Amino acid sequence: MAPTLLSSPLQGFTDFRFRNAFHQYFGGIDTFYAPYIRLQGKLVIKNSYQIDLAPENNSTLEIIPQVMTNDPDEFLFVVKYVQSLGYKELNWNLGCPYPMVTKSGMGSGMICQPAKINDVLHKAHNESDIVVSMKMRMGYEHPEEILDTFPILDQYPLKNIAIHARIGKQLYKGPVDLDAFEKCITATKHKLYYNGDITSVAAFKAIQERFPQLDHFMIGRGLIADPFLPSMIKNNVTEYPKDRWDIFSEFHDTIYQQYDAYLSGPTPIRMKMQGFWQYFAETTSNPQKTYKAIKKATNPQKYREAVSQILRTERNIQNG
Ligand SMILES: Cc1cc2nc3c(=O)[nH]c(=O)nc-3n(C[C@H](O)[C@H](O)[C@H](O)COP(=O)(O)O)c2cc1C
Repeated sequence: MAPTLLSSPLQGFTDFRFRNAFHQYFGGIDTFYAPYIRLQGKLVIKNSYQIDLAPENNSTLEIIPQVMTNDPDEFLFVVKYVQSLGYKELNWNLGCPYPMVTKSGMGSGMICQPAKINDVLHKAHNESDIVVSMKMRMGYEHPEEILDTFPILDQYPLKNIAIHARIGKQLYKGPVDLDAFEKCITATKHKLYYNGDITSVAAFKAIQERFPQLDHFMIGRGLIADPFLPSMIKNNVTEYPKDRWDIFSEFHDTIYQQYDAYLSGPTPIRMKMQGFWQYFAETTSNPQKTYKAIKKATNPQKYREAVSQILRTERNIQNG
């Protein structure tokens, strides 16, 4: 059976514009997690989150909203908000590694606090009928921290626990810890999804072979770097389509136009596309040269020329 593939959210990248264009041009993803909602001390949902989750902006694909908080009242407030939009599930982020987040006891900084996790889950389950799923790292300081949370998590009817197989302290550096992840599988009754460094069909197969009991996998950065990856995994192929760069080009132009219309002025769109190219460049034939060319393009005209040149080079290489 084909694995279920989920898009792991990247704040600043995988908003509804990206998700819709991705789904239209590449496919292969069953469900998209939206980047987290975070409240700023008030029970108010920022406009950008509202736009991102609006059903009319997500009409062609399945998404699951996500929240990052350590406060039971905030959690419940976001539950009610997403339910008002018609969502049945809320994903809870206990994975974010950034010190500003973890020092205030959120994201991966909360994994070592099972009692606080319990407070949130208790209120959510007592005062709403939302389906809760989790997205976690294995700890902040140590990968064993998660093992102490499982007895609490096992008391609730969570849909699943997606685990990014790193600890918070690592940020995004260093290897995933598959031995520690393996220990999680038998330590909880919940269904686990695997997340971390699925960047190629071969990398996916290695994870699938090591953990044959898993059938749900989340792909984050790898999906931006290589948007063909999910469909190639699904179809169990390693060959790109012949019109790989034509499809990519149309996708690129679609998101460019949408971000250009949304962001005002040349600098924000430049920064936005540079962010994407940090990932896109990885699957071009010369990542450094590609990214350098994008960085050097200081106005929209030069940017268009740089992209055309990159695509010309890649087409020539693909066609031999
Ligand atoms: C720039 C950036 C933003 C991210 N934003 C989120 C987020 O909003 N919610 C979340 O659960 N994870 C977020 N992540 C983590 C990814 O979803 C994913 O768990 C992580 O990158 C590991 O998976 P990967 O190796 O497939 O990328 C973010 C990661 C990066 C690099």
